[in-house]
Amino acid sequence: MKQFWRWNCMFSLAIWLSFCILLNACGIKAALDFKPNIVLMLADDLGIGDLGCYGNNTIRTPNIDRLAKEGVKLTQHIAAASLCTPSRAAFLTGRYPIRSGMASSNSYRALQWNAGSGGLPNNETTFARLLQQQGYTTGLIGKWHQGVNCDYGNDYCHHPLNHGFDYFYGMPFTLLNNCQDNKPPELDAAFQAKLWFYTQLIGLAVFSVLTGKITGLISVPWKVILCFSLFGFLFFASWYSSYGFVKHWNCIMMRNFSITEQPMKLERTTSIMLQEALSFIQQNKQGPFLLFVSFLHVHTPLFTTKRFLGKSKHGLYGDNVEEMDWVVGQILDAIDKQGLKNSTFTYFASDHGGHLEAQDGTIQLGGWNGIYKDSENPGGS
Ligand SMILES: *[C@@H]1O[C@H](CO)[C@@H](O)[C@H](O)[C@H]1NC(C)=O
Ligand SMILES: *[C@@H]1O[C@H](CO)[C@@H](O)[C@H](O)[C@H]1NC(C)=O
Ligand SMILES: *[C@@H]1O[C@H](CO)[C@@H](O)[C@H](O)[C@H]1NC(C)=O
Ligand SMILES: *[C@@H]1O[C@H](CO)[C@@H](O)[C@H](O)[C@H]1NC(C)=O
Repeated sequence: MKQFWRWNCMFSLAIWLSFCILLNACGIKAALDFKPNIVLMLADDLGIGDLGCYGNNTIRTPNIDRLAKEGVKLTQHIAAASLCTPSRAAFLTGRYPIRSGMASSNSYRALQWNAGSGGLPNNETTFARLLQQQGYTTGLIGKWHQGVNCDYGNDYCHHPLNHGFDYFYGMPFTLLNNCQDNKPPELDAAFQAKLWFYTQLIGLAVFSVLTGKITGLISVPWKVILCFSLFGFLFFASWYSSYGFVKHWNCIMMRNFSITEQPMKLERTTSIMLQEALSFIQQNKQGPFLLFVSFLHVHTPLFTTKRFLGKSKHGLYGDNVEEMDWVVGQILDAIDKQGLKNSTFTYFASDHGGHLEAQDGTIQLGGWNGIYKDSENPGGS
């Protein structure tokens, strides 16, 4: 039996070998050397149940549906994690996020601060790096969320340009509620609320004791009051220094290593990103190129331009999905117009499922996962 298996194995090897020689001889090697352009589009927190091609009959996603109709629609295409940072680390490297240190079991599974020193390690190999080595021009437009610096504010050790991308325009971090005024803060929300609660509590205590002292109702030494005030001030200072500048430090746009907007202006982000994508295609039409469009859609705060605002049947969330679909259409049209359709591999996916818990009272702000159960963890991104 063993012998038979070995012979069988050698036989197949021989067939493969002759096949390879034949291919080379027939010049098919040239065909195998063909380098298609690659356009990847990744949505943020989009649920599988939000798209027409997966059975949604109330949200209009004609462009993504067209992509599915003209190509292949995958139904067993699983994300490696239910949260951005680890799932994107896996997407970029093809490795389980735990292998690159990008997974964790608590709510800090996602990078929570732009200025944090964590991120995708240098020794990980992204598909962008592999394609770069194959002569591709590689561009990332949109969200990164894999870290920026290690030890200094300008070492850029985790930056896209140090992970195989020739060009980067977008958010080094992730979109979040804090990027829009008058939205409930999202970053580190539970801890922030706790810190603010204790700050207020101590403030109230100091105020009451001070009032008591001044009116002569209670007798406490000034030293004790001073001590308490200092304590309260420290709480306030740590709250304010951590959460008073969230938008300023995290909601920024960069071109390569330079910051172009700080804080970013949400009302023009979509149009600039689209322009960047279109001009990348135009400039690199000679190919081969990799364009990774990493959408800020459909993450909260769901900032949507006037053209799509109030137009869908599913509130702000639906508006935002429909706007994203329109952008997808513009990119597909550009590929068509440049005559690149037959030589471009185009792929659309979500980084993982919808953020079911994202709600404002009874209004649903997160996506719909169709037949699939569960969601991101609260505080996800
Ligand atoms: C379509 O998407 C919306 C928004 O996520 C969702 O509420 C609705 O249930 C979906 N419809 C179907 C048929 O899945
Ligand atoms: C990168 O380095 C870390 C730490 O030394 C190691 O755990 C990890 O396996 C390395 N990754 C690769 C792809 O070699
Ligand atoms: C971005 O950086 C790449 C190389 O690192 C360079 O080729 C390109 O010109 C830069 N683009 C801009 C707009 O600075
Ligand atoms: C693309 O391929 C299709 C099908 O093979 C063909 O009909 C069409 O003419 C091709 N288009 C271009 C621009 O090469």
